[in-house]
Amino acid sequence: MATHPPKLQVVMTSNERLQNLKKTFQKMYGEPPQFYACAPGRVNLIGEHIDYCGYAVLPMAIEQNILAAVSVNDSQTIQLANANPKYKDFTVSSKDIRINQDNPQWHYYFLCGVKGVQDHLGLSPLAGMRCVVDGIVPPSSGLSSSSALVCCAGLLTMEANHESLSKVALAEICAKCERYIGTEGGGMDQSISFLAEGGTAKLIEFHPLRASDVRLPEGAVFVISNSCVEMNKAATSHFNIRVVECRIATKMLAKARGLEGNNLLKLAEVQTQLDTSLEEMLGLVEEVLHPEPYSRDEICKVLGITSEQLCEGLLSANTQHVTHFKLFQRARHVYGEAARVLQFKSVCDSAPAGAVQLLGDLMNQSHASCRDLYECSCSELDQLVDICLNSGAVGSRLTGAGWGGCAVSMVPSEKVEPFLQRVREQYYMPDSRRTALEKQSLFVSKPGGGAAIFLEQ
Ligand code: GLA
Repeated sequence: MATHPPKLQVVMTSNERLQNLKKTFQKMYGEPPQFYACAPGRVNLIGEHIDYCGYAVLPMAIEQNILAAVSVNDSQTIQLANANPKYKDFTVSSKDIRINQDNPQWHYYFLCGVKGVQDHLGLSPLAGMRCVVDGIVPPSSGLSSSSALVCCAGLLTMEANHESLSKVALAEICAKCERYIGTEGGGMDQSISFLAEGGTAKLIEFHPLRASDVRLPEGAVFVISNSCVEMNKAATSHFNIRVVECRIATKMLAKARGLEGNNLLKLAEVQTQLDTSLEEMLGLVEEVLHPEPYSRDEICKVLGITSEQLCEGLLSANTQHVTHFKLFQRARHVYGEAARVLQFKSVCDSAPAGAVQLLGDLMNQSHASCRDLYECSCSELDQLVDICLNSGAVGSRLTGAGWGGCAVSMVPSEKVEPFLQRVREQYYMPDSRRTALEKQSLFVSKPGGGAAIFLEQ
């Protein structure tokens, strides 16, 4: 139940990864961990770049997660280490947690989670903690490794301070606090990390946040393949430019319909106010917006605002330099993609004959819209998606923020082995760097469970 806190579980000592983490912890701090927390990454099956516009998305948790071992003390410091030596140790006073937006290193994501829970509960002083983190979600690959780290840190901070929060509250806190790093994401990644349940994908709806089961059709599996192009959404402004374009498009549509007084910020809010269908919203976009990019001057003129008001009220810190905004294309993607999510859910619910093909078609339309209207793909991802479709997938699309990272493909169960072999041959083997990464880059994924705290037996 989403309203309950994540359950404290007892796990067996035979788990090899846990044992290794325990050993590392003991070696590093000279004491055993007191408890563990984990939070999964996710793959989004459909509904890209629409959560921050207020629309429902359809992800599932993956088995790969962030696992942390923790001990609590009254030192008022947080000592942080990573099982992977690539990521440097870090110590910070729990009274002075700062997050540097210009330099999104791994420990800042952890601190986002700590600070989010601290701020929400007004915790002062905050318990001192020693932590070792072991992450197996491939980083910068669109599988939400950073949000999983934020969620894991938020959850263990709650436990270390003997507090209790529901999964929904934790998801909302972690969605909000990840913005300390500067990226204006929606709440999808954190919501599925907390609300996931093994064996089922989820429709995640916002305002209020809620998750419902989506039964995936039998006879097909989802395969994740990494393009091996790394994309760190906090290190570039691509992501926030899209968020800002959607915000400005919202203002333009609201203005055209006399809703400018309502302070709308999300494309979904325009639809709610007009009480109309997504199809009619697509018509409104065609009627009100033009395909040519909008200059700052034109936006200010139409909205009747000054350049300062645009910079302060609508742009983010890292989009102040942008001169042109594609409003028509972005809004068309958002309303179209929101409709595809609902269609996907309804095909899963009614499971008609040919359901797998229908879902595959929706995934393909989603990729085309991400590529052409939202421009969040890249040539390697497009090539990978084409290879997946030519290798037996019924549907294939980029997943996550895009501009690199992974594709997700829906493959009929009986075709999985030849599919994997062909993708291996055509995408990974011709390139030595990709070949080296292939083992963790190409895999079948089943819906995994959500974040949890546990003790060792
Ligand atoms: C990132 C964000 C999510 C969502 C996706 C794109 O993962 O964190 O909130 O916007 O990109 O769908």
